[in-house]
Amino acid sequence: MQLFFLLLGLLFSVLQAQDVTVTDKMTALVGKEVIFPCTFSSKDPKVRVTQIMWMNSTVSLAVYSPHLGIHVNDPTRFQLVDPSPTSVTLKISRVYYTDEGEYSCEVTTFPDGNLKAFTKLTVKAIPQNSAEAKSGVVADDQEKVVATCKSANARPPSQITWHSVIPGNISNTITNNTDGTSTIVSDFIMTPTWTTDGMPVTCITNYDSTDYPIPLKLSVQYSPVVTIEGFDDNWHLHRSGVFLICNAKGNPPPTSYIWKTVDGSPLPSSVRAKDNVLYVDEVDARVNRSFLCEVTNALGSRASRQDVLVREKPNPSGAGTTGGIIGGIIAAIVGVAVAATVIMICRQQRRNEIAKDEEEFDGPPAYKPPPPSLKLHTEQPSGQEALLRNPPHQHEITYDEDMTPPKIRQSSDPRLHSALEDEYLEQENPIYNEFKPHENGSRQEDHGFVMSPAVYV
Ligand SMILES: *[C@@H]1O[C@H](CO)[C@@H](O)[C@H](O)[C@H]1NC(C)=O
Ligand SMILES: *[C@@H]1O[C@H](CO)[C@@H](O)[C@H](O)[C@H]1NC(C)=O
Ligand SMILES: *[C@@H]1O[C@H](CO)[C@@H](O)[C@H](O)[C@H]1NC(C)=O
Ligand SMILES: *[C@@H]1O[C@H](CO)[C@@H](O)[C@H](O)[C@H]1NC(C)=O
Repeated sequence: MQLFFLLLGLLFSVLQAQDVTVTDKMTALVGKEVIFPCTFSSKDPKVRVTQIMWMNSTVSLAVYSPHLGIHVNDPTRFQLVDPSPTSVTLKISRVYYTDEGEYSCEVTTFPDGNLKAFTKLTVKAIPQNSAEAKSGVVADDQEKVVATCKSANARPPSQITWHSVIPGNISNTITNNTDGTSTIVSDFIMTPTWTTDGMPVTCITNYDSTDYPIPLKLSVQYSPVVTIEGFDDNWHLHRSGVFLICNAKGNPPPTSYIWKTVDGSPLPSSVRAKDNVLYVDEVDARVNRSFLCEVTNALGSRASRQDVLVREKPNPSGAGTTGGIIGGIIAAIVGVAVAATVIMICRQQRRNEIAKDEEEFDGPPAYKPPPPSLKLHTEQPSGQEALLRNPPHQHEITYDEDMTPPKIRQSSDPRLHSALEDEYLEQENPIYNEFKPHENGSRQEDHGFVMSPAVYV
């Protein structure tokens, strides 16, 4: 009995002393090469290797025998690299997705027989990701594809999601390619409006647990959106140097600005139209009428209307406009300066008092009154603040030296678009005015900046 255990133990240690080693898990890319190492070691010098064979789950791929040489199943794809009785490395030179699966390295020894080790191959393909905002999308009430994103030839398949502040529907098309990869095309579908022009959307491709975002900017074409500013409800006889500015956004950009009178009569000789500015050198009764600014781009024309009321005398309450804003700013600056001076004087006085106290008592004073608190009161009504923070016309206007018409640069800030949308709604729907939040509410009082109703031509 004891002898049996001794023999068993001996056998076990001999078995343990022999080892076939492979890499458990391997990953290869489609079309690339992959190398499977297999090493054999034995502590028993009597053991002889007679054959080492690499197999997939069904057939032998390559065999090495120290005596008989090498046999390879398909030499165009499989190769044995520097085979020896201790190491046989299989190389697949061009991996197909069908190569995915289990492989084994089998070592036949004399006198002990066969030893096997398994390895698992996963075949992957890294996709090509691309995305584009569709060009030539025109704003109307038709749902359409505004952006497309593609992740081509992925294995495992990739997923596409969209990140966007504007609501849209997503349509995905997945194709299984013959090489075992898959291609996904994702369309972002919405009803484009002019306010969505330039809006950001992001296509996010998820492949192999990693996100690959591609940011895009939508391009939506629309005919001009027109507003007129410059009338402050204080155009009185003999006032000079006033003008109306016609602001227009459009995609493609506006190409022409035409000033007209609403009744169709020719422009009075007291006004001068220069592109998007209507100059009035000196206000007279002929200016007492309604004007139209008609703006055209490649998609069409739209106009905005400005009613001008000419007064006999300056409007006593008319100071609440441009002048009022400037006045408010000056008042605020003066106020801050005064407050700062007061604070400094107070501090200086306190410092003097402390110095006096310390001289008189030569120790910590018992009680000191707290410094007087200062309340800063700003003169600006909230409406004007709102106007300053968020001017009603979201355009940056720059003047050239020779007074050519102001150039309008369109801002890409999404907040501005929503502000513009407000304006737009305001023009479209007078009721919208009534329910507007307080921030914009006072705009109605500031006649100088009230949008004139848009007129469609
Ligand atoms: C094993 O390899 C042979 C030869 O390349 C191939 O025809 C067969 O499909 C493979 N089998 C598996 C399960 O991969
Ligand atoms: C998404 O599609 C549904 C059904 O076609 C439609 O009712 C909805 O308005 C669409 N949403 C957007 C944001 O386009
Ligand atoms: C593509 O392959 C997946 C599995 O890999 C399968 O579920 C799907 O139905 C296939 N799609 C097509 C269109 O053949
Ligand atoms: C302008 O027209 C209005 C009526 O439309 C009239 O009340 C006003 O007096 C006119 N102003 C001048 C200066 O004629």
